Amino acid sequence: DIKGFVFDLDGVITVTSIYHSKAWHQIADEVGTKWSDKLANSLKGVDRVHSLARILKAGGKETAYTDQQKKDLMDKKNHLYLQYVDKMGSDEILPGIKSFLADLKRHHYAISLASSSRNSPKVLKKLNLTSYFGKVVDPATLKHGKPDPEIYAKGAKILNLDPRRCIGIEDAVVGVQSINAAGETSIGIGDSKVLHEADMVFPDTSKLTLANIKKHMDQ
Ligand code: G6P
Ligand code: MG
Repeated sequence: DIKGFVFDLDGVITVTSIYHSKAWHQIADEVGTKWSDKLANSLKGVDRVHSLARILKAGGKETAYTDQQKKDLMDKKNHLYLQYVDKMGSDEILPGIKSFLADLKRHHYAISLASSSRNSPKVLKKLNLTSYFGKVVDPATLKHGKPDPEIYAKGAKILNLDPRRCIGIEDAVVGVQSINAAGETSIGIGDSKVLHEADMVFPDTSKLTLANIKKHMDQ
């Protein structure tokens, strides 16, 4: 029986995946890496350090920047990203998420957050969703990023739940892989071809309901 839900943030609860992309796009332009949908997709769910590494690698610039310059680029990206976040409000919650969270609470499911973003407390506050997420994995405490199972394993642990009693929800391929490796049931939000490793995929968050999940699990 499922007892808890472990959520990704960017691209699942809110539109911020777009803002991360826009900010990284600007950094890619600055370092001379050609931006593409493929590159954008490969950054989803990936932490800062590894996102920048991928952008530099895509432009053949792995060794062109010092550690300090890389730090400055990451700071710049975060500054650009936070300019978008500052203007956010609860209208940037993705369709159906608010009622899904309320439904989970009503049915006494445990809820936690497993986002790689260090900005998630700020984003939750902007969305007025902090009250749902008393349990948040702090990405600063992790040894390995997604697709490693560590973050989703912690997402279950902070709920005192066996991972097999949890469902993880993700829009990123590496996120789905992390959920699966942690032994949880995975829900992908997005393109079922891209997220084919997920136990079930919904094209968008408006389809994410307890009834639809139960339907899938009974199949
Ligand atoms: C999430 C997002 C990524 C972002 C990462 C780190 O996983 O999907 O796009 O790069 O968090 O976020 P941060 O806000 O700490 O730079
Ligand atoms: Mg995401």
